[in-house]
This record gives sequence, structure tokens and C-alpha cells, in this order.
Amino acid sequence: KPVPVLTIDGPSGSGKGTISRAVADALGWHLLDSGAIYRAVGYAAGMAGIDLSDAAAVTRCAETTKIVFRDPKDGGETRVVVNGHDATDELRTETCGAAASAIAAIPAVRAALFDKQRAFRRSPGLVADGRDMGTVVFSDAEHKIFLTASAEERARRRYKQLKEKGLTVTLSSLLREIEARDERDATRKVAPLKPAAGAVVIDSTAIPIDQVIARVLAVVRPG
Ligand code: C5P
Repeated sequence: KPVPVLTIDGPSGSGKGTISRAVADALGWHLLDSGAIYRAVGYAAGMAGIDLSDAAAVTRCAETTKIVFRDPKDGGETRVVVNGHDATDELRTETCGAAASAIAAIPAVRAALFDKQRAFRRSPGLVADGRDMGTVVFSDAEHKIFLTASAEERARRRYKQLKEKGLTVTLSSLLREIEARDERDATRKVAPLKPAAGAVVIDSTAIPIDQVIARVLAVVRPG
């Protein structure tokens, strides 16, 4: 029997990260934060001084960048180590989000990251968080969710998150950046953001997070 996979796709700020983590913990399954992989490649390319429009150079970077997810023993948040450097905090910035979105539109980059992502499918199960988890990378998954929320609500959530991390941002610039990134992710030729066939669509704009988690869990374990 194949290892079960639950895919959770959706735009930035839809609550995917928090919900994927909570659902993975509740099920005792592994977690793939595929956005962190794209962010890590964008970050590594930036560090190496690579022009993000140089598709061949960025693709080589995607092939060679070493990305390690490390779960602290005390149960704290997962650290992301990129080429030996803990880049967890840098990866969260909107600069890295925009770099990720730019390099994610290059087909050869997506191809280079395909197997790396598939390797996360391990027993007893996997929760895969991203944009194309249900449509491309785990198109064979048995459980698929598409999580969304209004752009304003997503910008507000992101604003709160970044503020708590001590980063200086304005709500209006964040909203503009999020809308620009979503537009690029949804209109690109390769693996555009869209609900997978058969995905359960959940709009979390006006639903408390614990209820969203309960709905997602009910998809995996009905009854
Ligand atoms: O989810 P997160 O905001 O961390 O993703 C950053 C960017 O990486 C997205 O805007 C998207 O362009 C890209 N991405 C992707 N496919 C995924 C996950 C993320 O193209 N599966």
C-alpha cells in the first residue's frame, strides 16, 4: 500500500504553514514545506550573486544547494539550514518570498526540485504544503486540500506574523507584494497555483484556525 499523502495548496498567508504543521502533528505524519525549498534556492542564488533571470545558473543552483530541515529536540520551530548556514529567519522575509516566486517560474528549476520533494514521502504519511503539491508533485495523493482566504485577510495575517518576529513592514506594501506574488504564481506557465482536480476547497477568511484544522483532519479521517 502506498504511503498516504495529504496535499495542502494555496496562496501565501492562507494559513497553510500553521495548518499543515498542526495536521502533521495530529496525524503523526512527516511534513514537507515546499515553499521553504524554493525560498532556500532563491536565497542561495542571491548569496552567490546569481542574476535571478539567468535560468541556467539558477537551475545549477537548485541542483547543488544543500537544504536540511532540522527539528530542535525541545520541540521548537523547524530550522532550515542552507549550505550549512541556518537561514530560517532570512527565508521568512518578503525579499526571499519574491526571489522564490521568480525562480519558481523557471521550469528546469521545478524539475530539479521534483525528486527532492518526492523523497519526503515516508511512512507513516506525509503532509505536503505548497502551490503544486496536489496538481504536480503528488498528483497521486489520496487527500487534497486547497486553502484560500481574501488577499486583505492574508496580508493582515502576514503583517502580524512579521511584526511578532520584529520585522518592520507596512500593511499596504505587504498587500501589494502579496497580490503581485499571487498573480505571478497563478498565471505562470509551469505548475500555476490552482486547485487540484478533486481537491476540497476551504476558504479560511472568516473561520478560526482550529476549525480549519478540524475540517482538514476530517478529510483524512472521515467520521
Ligand atoms: O509558501 P511560500 O510563500 O513559502 O512560497 C514561496 C514561493 O515559492 C511562492 O510564492 C511560489 O512562487 C513558490 N512555490 C512554488 N511551488 C511550491 C511552493 C512554493 O512555486 N510548491
